[in-house]
Order: sequence, then C-alpha cells, then structure tokens
Amino acid sequence: SDGWMNVWHPFLFFFTAFGQNLETDNVSVVEGETATISCRVKDNDDSVIQLLNPNRQTIYFRDVRPLKDSRFQLVNFTDNELRVALSNVSISDEGRYVCQLYTDPPQEAYAEITVLVPPGNPMIESREDIINEGNETEITCSVTGSKPAAKIRWLKGVQHLETSSRNSSIKEDDEKMYTVTSKVTLTVTKDDDGVPVICMVDHPAVKDFQTQKYLEVQYKPKVMIIKSSPKEDPREGERLELSCTVESKPKAQFVRWIKVDDELPLQTSLKGSELSIENLNKSYNGTYRCMAANSIGESWADFNLIVRDAPTTTPLPTTTTSPTTTSSTTTSTATTTSVIDAGPRGVDHAVIGGVVAVVVFAMLCLLIILGRYFARHKGTYFTHEAKGADDAADADTAIINAEGGHNSTDDKKEYYI
Ligand SMILES: *[C@@H]1O[C@H](CO)[C@@H](O)[C@H](O)[C@H]1NC(C)=O
Ligand SMILES: *[C@@H]1O[C@H](CO)[C@@H](O)[C@H](O)[C@H]1NC(C)=O
Ligand SMILES: *[C@@H]1O[C@H](CO)[C@@H](O)[C@H](O)[C@H]1NC(C)=O
Ligand SMILES: *[C@@H]1O[C@H](CO)[C@@H](O)[C@H](O)[C@H]1NC(C)=O
Ligand SMILES: *[C@@H]1O[C@H](CO)[C@@H](O)[C@H](O)[C@H]1NC(C)=O
Ligand SMILES: *[C@@H]1O[C@H](CO)[C@@H](O)[C@H](O)[C@H]1NC(C)=O
Ligand SMILES: *[C@@H]1O[C@H](CO)[C@@H](O)[C@H](O)[C@H]1NC(C)=O
Repeated sequence: SDGWMNVWHPFLFFFTAFGQNLETDNVSVVEGETATISCRVKDNDDSVIQLLNPNRQTIYFRDVRPLKDSRFQLVNFTDNELRVALSNVSISDEGRYVCQLYTDPPQEAYAEITVLVPPGNPMIESREDIINEGNETEITCSVTGSKPAAKIRWLKGVQHLETSSRNSSIKEDDEKMYTVTSKVTLTVTKDDDGVPVICMVDHPAVKDFQTQKYLEVQYKPKVMIIKSSPKEDPREGERLELSCTVESKPKAQFVRWIKVDDELPLQTSLKGSELSIENLNKSYNGTYRCMAANSIGESWADFNLIVRDAPTTTPLPTTTTSPTTTSSTTTSTATTTSVIDAGPRGVDHAVIGGVVAVVVFAMLCLLIILGRYFARHKGTYFTHEAKGADDAADADTAIINAEGGHNSTDDKKEYYI
C-alpha cells in the first residue's frame, strides 16, 4: 500500500494545486425564497476570494459588498469559506455565479442558480359529468405557470393510468413559464362509479400536489337472487323464500318476478322484491326470473327451482320411533298375557275359580235383594184385592190393616225408596 501511495500522491497534489482547491455547489431555489451560495477553499494560503454574478459583477470581495443589491448578505466569511445568501429570489436572478480565488493563475468555480416556480392549482375537467357504463370519457388536467414544466401522472383509484406524451401538451406562457395539459381517455364500467380519477403533479417545488374527480357512472340493474329458505334443496311441502337484490343507477323503475314460460303458482306471495311460495309442490318446478330495468337497460337473474320429494330422511325416524313405542306397549301387554298363558294351570284355575265365586256371590246377593224387594212390594201391589192378606189372619184385620196401615206402608215406601 506504500507503493500505491507513492504512485498517487503526486497526482492528487497536482489536482489540489490546479482547480480542486476551490469548490461550490449548484443551487435550486423556489422563487421568493433564499438561495445560499458557498465558495469553499481547501488549504488557503491567504488568497483573496470573491463572488461574481452572472454578468461578472463583483457581489462580494472578501467580506465587502461592492454591489448595491441589499438582498445579498454575508452569512460566513473565513479563510476557508465565503458564504452569501440571496433573499427573495426571482427568475431574473438565475444564472451562473462565479467563485474566484486570486491565485496565479486565478481559479474559478461555478454555482448555477436555478429558480423554481411552483405551479398553480391543477384544474381537472371531464367531458361528461355522468357517464354510461361502457362509454368512453375524456378527462383533462392542466397546471399553469410553473418552472420548470410540471409532469402529470394519472391514477384511477390506486391503479396507474397510461397516457401517451401525445396526449399531453407543454406550452411556454412567457419566459421559461409553462402550462402543462394532460388528457386521459377511459372506458368506464359499473365498478368505476364513485372511483376518483387523480391528476398527480410532479414538480420540484411542490410535494403531494394533486386534484381528483370522482367518476359518476350510470349502469343498468345488476340483479342477484338469494335463496334464504330452505337452506338445503327445496322439497315438497316446504316454504321457498327468494330475495332479489338489485343494484342500479339510476334507481330501477321496476323489479318484477316472473316464471319463465309459465304463470307463477297461486301459492306465490310477493312482497317488494321478495318471493315466497308456501307448500312446495313438484309441479312448481321451473325457472323463476327476477327482472329489473332503469333508463340504461333491463336485466334479470334466474333461479331454477327443482322441488325434490318430501323429506324422507327426517320423517323416517319419527315413523320408526312411533311403531317402536306402540310395539313396546303391545309387547308389554303381550308379556302380561303371556304370563297368564305361560303360567301354571293351577294359578289359571284358581283365578277363574275366584272370579266365578265372586260372580256367583254377587248374583246371590242380587237375588236376595231382589227377593226382599219384591216381598216388601207385594203388599202394595195387592192392596186393591187383599190388602194385608199375607199379614192378616182374617179379612177384617186385613181391611183394618189396609185402612190403618196405609200410612205405615207409605212410610215403608218412603223408607225403601
Ligand atoms: C451545475 O449545473 C451545471 C449546469 O446545469 C452543470 O453543468 C454542472 O455539472 C453542475 N454542477 C454540479 C456540481 O452539479
Ligand atoms: C463559518 O464557517 C466555519 C467553518 O465552516 C464554521 O466553523 C462557523 O461556525 C461558521 N460560522 C457561521 C456564523 O456560520
Ligand atoms: C420580492 O421581489 C419582488 C420583485 O421581484 C417584489 O415585488 C417583492 O416586494 C419582494 N418581496 C420582499 C419581501 O422583498
Ligand atoms: C353512451 O352509451 C349509450 C349506450 O349505452 C349510447 O346510446 C350513447 O350514445 C353513449 N353516449 C356517448 C356520449 O357516447
Ligand atoms: C390520446 O387521446 C386520443 C384522443 O384525444 C385517444 O384516442 C387516445 O386513446 C389517447 N391516448 C391515451 C394513451 O390516453
Ligand atoms: C302437488 O300438486 C298436485 C296437483 O297439482 C296434487 O295432486 C298433489 O297432492 C300436490 N302434492 C303436495 C305434496 O301437495
Ligand atoms: C320436478 O323436479 C323433481 C326433481 O328433479 C322431479 O322428480 C319431478 O318430476 C319434477 N316435476 C316436474 C313437474 O317437472
């Protein structure tokens, strides 16, 4: 590396002595603001530095300003730097300023001052305010009075739009001031409705400079059918519910349900754009169409109804469960009867014997009661012929009994009845 230094050192020395000693920078400044010009010297050996304007008039000689223009002010003056500020810069200040070092021969370095003029607010215009879907529109954006000329870029939403340079014009208004106009043509779709078309202005004097126009697109109705019930394939006996959603601009003039090549079933009820059919039947199979129209056009969506057999999977368990419950009861009764049948004969006979005994006893009791009843009433039945004949020993007592005992038989009657 020592060898490398030996080769390069004289070369670097040569450059520092002739030119690289003095340096400055180009300056870009926005009109009305302040430009700072800095003349820097490395290893200055007390040589004088001065700053000249583009017309080679001395602005500063060391820290002295011979020029009358008070917009020039000394910011720093040392052996190594002469720094001057120029306030309220105008386009006429543009040009090549010269830093000069009084060596022999004198050295010079050039600072180019570029004045930037920010553009006025961009103006955006579209050929149509409201565009029909599928139609083409043209949007124009222009920015006036900038220096240098601004560049225009286009965005639709977040999507970059291509424009050819053919479709943008740059016009020089007066000296070095430009108006830029850019045109973009686009074919709109329904989805472009409400989307901003943005005109972005690129210019060194401004940041985030843009304007936008929201597209307003008219489109024919977009119709969509949603089956809200049943969740599965429709089956006989079920209730069908279809709702028709319509997206349209301008608003749809009508939304209508029809059945293609047929009449809507009688059980159909329509509520707004909702269609419902009670108690589905296979004969309702067919294409149900929701139609809508606005000033742009008409469109529809179809729902193909295929009614399947009445639910077989769900009722099957109920039909199998009900027989099992009945069969379980029948088997329980069958088991009780089978207990009687399968039981020993002795038990069987004893039971029958017991029943027979109870029946015979009941019948005997009945006979006794009946016998006593008829015995008591025989007297009253025979009162006209032989009252008390059974009780009385002779006819006289029978008559006395009949006359006097009338009350007693009445009492007995009341008692027995
Ligand atoms: C300064 O600007 C001039 C002219 O535009 C150019 O030729 C030169 O290279 C620039 N110097 C620097 C240091 O950028
Ligand atoms: C002037 O420049 C010197 C060297 O670059 C620096 O040290 C000093 O602070 C500067 N003075 C002012 C007032 O900017
Ligand atoms: C800046 O300069 C313009 C002319 O170039 C002048 O009209 C204006 O008054 C100046 N502004 C200030 C603050 O000096
Ligand atoms: C827009 O499109 C419609 C058809 O949708 C057409 O009739 C009309 O002329 C078009 N308008 C323009 C300005 O191109
Ligand atoms: C430029 O404009 C013309 C008509 O003004 C148009 O036909 C063309 O599509 C435009 N090109 C671009 C890229 O926008
Ligand atoms: C379906 O309709 C037919 C007549 O159109 C009728 O005979 C049948 O019983 C209906 N079925 C049901 C499940 O309602
Ligand atoms: C309706 O569709 C069902 C299921 O595909 C089918 O079994 C039935 O035969 C169809 N009925 C009619 C009238 O088309």
